[in-house]
Amino acid sequence: MTIQAQVDDLLARMTPAEKAGQLTQYFYFRLPAGAQPVLDFDADEQPRMVESKLQQGEVGSLLFVTDPAEINRLQRLAVQGNRFGIPLLFGFDVIHGLRTIFPVPIAMAASWDPAVIERAQAVAGREARAAGIHWTFAPMVDIARDPRWGRIIEGAGEDPYLGAAVASAQVRGFQGGEVGTPDRVIAGPKHFAGYGYALGGRDYDEVNLSDSELWNVVFPPFQAAIAAGAGNIMTGYMDLNGIPATGNRWLFTEVLRETWGFEGFVVSDANAVRNLLTHGFAADLTEAGARGVNAGVDMEMVISDAAYATLPAALDAGHIDIQTIDASVRRVLEAKFRLGLMDHPYVDEDRAREVLADPAHREVSRIAAERSAVLLRNDGNLLPLDAGALTSVAVVGPLADSRRDTIGPWVFDFDLTETITVLEGIRGAVGGDVRVDYAPGVTVVQREFPSLFDMFGGNTPSDPDGFDEAAEFRRAVDLSREADVAVMVVGEWQNMIGEMASRSSLELPGRQLELLQAIVATGTPVVLLVMNGRPLDLRWAADNVPAILDIWYPGTQGGAAVANLVFGHVSPGGKLPFTWPRSVGQIPMIYGHTRSHEPENQARRYWDEASTPLFPFGHGLSYGRFDYRDLAVEPTTSIVSGTVTVSVEVTNTSDREADEVVQLYLHQRSGTASRPVRELKGFQRITLAAGETRTIAFPVGPDERRYWNAAARDWVTDSSIFDLWVGTDSTASLTTTLQVGQE
Ligand code: BGC
Repeated sequence: MTIQAQVDDLLARMTPAEKAGQLTQYFYFRLPAGAQPVLDFDADEQPRMVESKLQQGEVGSLLFVTDPAEINRLQRLAVQGNRFGIPLLFGFDVIHGLRTIFPVPIAMAASWDPAVIERAQAVAGREARAAGIHWTFAPMVDIARDPRWGRIIEGAGEDPYLGAAVASAQVRGFQGGEVGTPDRVIAGPKHFAGYGYALGGRDYDEVNLSDSELWNVVFPPFQAAIAAGAGNIMTGYMDLNGIPATGNRWLFTEVLRETWGFEGFVVSDANAVRNLLTHGFAADLTEAGARGVNAGVDMEMVISDAAYATLPAALDAGHIDIQTIDASVRRVLEAKFRLGLMDHPYVDEDRAREVLADPAHREVSRIAAERSAVLLRNDGNLLPLDAGALTSVAVVGPLADSRRDTIGPWVFDFDLTETITVLEGIRGAVGGDVRVDYAPGVTVVQREFPSLFDMFGGNTPSDPDGFDEAAEFRRAVDLSREADVAVMVVGEWQNMIGEMASRSSLELPGRQLELLQAIVATGTPVVLLVMNGRPLDLRWAADNVPAILDIWYPGTQGGAAVANLVFGHVSPGGKLPFTWPRSVGQIPMIYGHTRSHEPENQARRYWDEASTPLFPFGHGLSYGRFDYRDLAVEPTTSIVSGTVTVSVEVTNTSDREADEVVQLYLHQRSGTASRPVRELKGFQRITLAAGETRTIAFPVGPDERRYWNAAARDWVTDSSIFDLWVGTDSTASLTTTLQVGQE
């Protein structure tokens, strides 16, 4: 029997209550002690409620269980409690690794290396699937242009072209080609759509987005993820243009299914269907449930009091019809069949242990961290350090030796004992002859308003016992003064970035800047390592510190990767996936703005500070040196439907192997809408040996030139002269033109 026929057979026999159960996904977690006060449900009662529903066949999926034995126990309850033996889907936020933790998503995007991103998420998928997890709530493909928003760390930054490339690499990695690929999990791109544009960067606040921005900027990564085969999509919490995203039929039915042909299933964000009530978009729970399913949201993710449990009542009341419910149940059941769960609902606990311990996974994590780092500044080629020429190194800053911070937020199943901090990495790399002293120097900083995530074990940072900040500050400065070089790690503690971690400032928290200034004043050369998921205010450092390397939250192998970069075993090759503003007042700042009025004054739009970024989009230095030459377009003219080839010669003029990301930008000079001054339309990360030259080619055709025109309310491909630039970042100066005429 085909999957289709088996699903039909089940549907014909299921009651409305059983169908509603398949559309309901419950959280199942044992909360840490002390969690209760900030949650509005009974944490002891909730798991009991879920188990009893499992025994009555009224649950389709669970999330937040990662222990294989526990997964098997709960699966057994479901299979035995269900008249048809339909197993559960287990979902989890495998965002940047399960046991092996990779650099945070914004860091992986900074690699501009789809191959390494795919490899990393394939490892994450393999670990998750081995543990019994079938589905990840990732990748987050929300475009983020406001770094006050903490979830900028979970995405690929500001650009739709890079965002689309990263989104599809992640889906390929997590899921393989299709749902059901062995050793992979269903990928669930999120949050459809516009969540990154929260008003004021305040997480969960409303979003108001123009038609042009939605189609040209926000949608492309989703569309790419769907084209890569993503089996699931998650909704967003917030209102989009006045309609809650989770109840937005236009998004989930008209755009997602009817326009893009999405065939997978949609899940709500946590409690977001219930919260249609909170939004004032439904008068009661029954209406909320009906509105969710009618909008095209197949499954409700919820803690308790599921709106979808009221679907039988909504059916009786005529708020929804059975065909609509059946269509949603069909999508969920199809996923279970495709995964092979109907025949094999249980996971092999011994194999899980083996897979999670696979050393090859750690190796992929180290490589990903090396390829993610971005060299922001390297005055006088201070980096790489020559370990053989050093006698002493001072390592400074509390983040330099914090395992929990090294792996970043949105991880729960990590193993801290195998996490390598920057201090450990440097100690391991220099050998016994070089003295490495460490001083945290400043106290850890606490959030003014803690979040839910702070309740999980180890997520709230703390100082070592008896920490005396004044003495530690002096000790850090003294050690730096006496050392050959000071390596200082600054940034945000991992609980300061991520969900519920929006911020009104970009400054280095606490006294980190003050300590940096005191260390620079000693005259010892300073290498600054930045641990972050958003751009921070580095104005002082950019003027006064010779070497700045953005290491992000680099993951399990972070310290080893950082040491390889600092001592030059590998050259940094990452590039910024966002425009790095000078200060919070410049937000939002993007490279792809339109010319608008008086473009000659673009750099002086404010009277008090240059309205240019501190570091441009695409920026990232190397230990190598690259020369760009012979930019050519072949042929030099085209018709609207035609494709030309843009090529350039890149030479590594240095005496060492290094990576470069060759970037192509395009600008339409005139047409039926104002178009951005530059748009990324191609990139390639390449490795060139010392002295090597390579010709890099990019196609420029209708796909690169077309855009959504808000006046025409349609896709448009204008004839125009196009400016093209190829180079090392979004300010590239090597330029040529392409003339595109009518057919
Ligand atoms: C987040 C989602 C996440 C879900 C489940 C929500 O709060 O917005 O991105 O997948 O929780 O953990």
